[in-house]
Amino acid sequence: MNDKKRVGILTGGGDCPGINAVIRAVGKKIILEADAEIIGIEDGYEGLINNKYRSLEYQELSGILTLGGTILGTSKKANPYSYAVKESGKLVFKDLSKIVIQNIKRLDLGCLVCIGGDGTLGIAYKLFKSGIPIIGVPKTIDNDIIGTEVTFGFDSAVFIATEGIDRLHTTAQSHHRVMILEVMGHNAGWLALHSGMAGGGDVILIPEIPYDIRIIAEKVKERHRKGKRFSIVVVAEGARPKGGNVVIQRIVKESPDPVRLGGIGFILGDQIEKATGIETRTVVMGHLQRGGTPTPFDRVLATQLGTKAVDMIKNRSFGYMVGVRRGSLLKVSLKDVAKGCRKVPLNHPLIKSARSLDTCFGDR
Ligand code: F6P
Repeated sequence: MNDKKRVGILTGGGDCPGINAVIRAVGKKIILEADAEIIGIEDGYEGLINNKYRSLEYQELSGILTLGGTILGTSKKANPYSYAVKESGKLVFKDLSKIVIQNIKRLDLGCLVCIGGDGTLGIAYKLFKSGIPIIGVPKTIDNDIIGTEVTFGFDSAVFIATEGIDRLHTTAQSHHRVMILEVMGHNAGWLALHSGMAGGGDVILIPEIPYDIRIIAEKVKERHRKGKRFSIVVVAEGARPKGGNVVIQRIVKESPDPVRLGGIGFILGDQIEKATGIETRTVVMGHLQRGGTPTPFDRVLATQLGTKAVDMIKNRSFGYMVGVRRGSLLKVSLKDVAKGCRKVPLNHPLIKSARSLDTCFGDR
């Protein structure tokens, strides 16, 4: 720990189960071991733009381990480097980073802990380059952050999506239907791959493997011929056909990353029904995957990431994120994290394993 006895903490981007477990771990350890004050910045970077923060007392940090969401609030729009404001009825994007840097300095923080996904951590890296002592903690249900094999929130989302698949299985079986479950994951297929395998999906479609509808239809018909008169298709929201594009659900104009994916499941449903003659239904898991209490795995991971973050503050390892590699915690340079997002490699052992059980990825 340095001479400054205040540590700030914020949560940016989409919420997910386990954020409060990280806030609890960081806050309690800071108070217990460093005898410092922990300042909770509200609504992500929004709180640093508009000076919204509060001191987190030990009492407030207690009893939140199992609580979903984030007690600090979050924002997917508040990017200090590209902040949407309305001027004469028009939306313009402004660089408010200087204000944010000033506000952080005024708060006299020894370190700012940023809990977030690639967007939040990319901003954190920029702030670090401007001299702000920062530590990142990887959070997202998408599991797509470079430098870590796993993010907290992912296991909980896989658990919820798998429960969805399990429930679809029984109704698909009863009605001899094709049931499609569309899951989140942004441009990466981790969530679809893991939940698809856990739920025994017959077809798993991920963004990394563009699909051919004819191959999917053939798979469904083949199952039918063999007496399996139902099929389960798990599709990632970012999946797309060979030579085609992703399906965009909406554009959030105020967001620096405005594209929201979604809707591929319905298009696929129509196409499968037409091509096979088998009745097909689509269910979108949506934000259910981000809500509710974290799984035990995520509670433990979030706690470990939080306590490791405080060790890094003590060692003044600023400009790094806590990552996980081969089950061990390590520090990963935010510079590397900011390079993009982590996709499923085509030679991933899970794909190989699923293929060996005749799971169809829509490509062969
Ligand atoms: O990054 C998390 C995530 O849930 C993605 O899986 C999804 O594409 C996106 O956020 C949804 O964003 P919003 O909460 O703005 O609808």
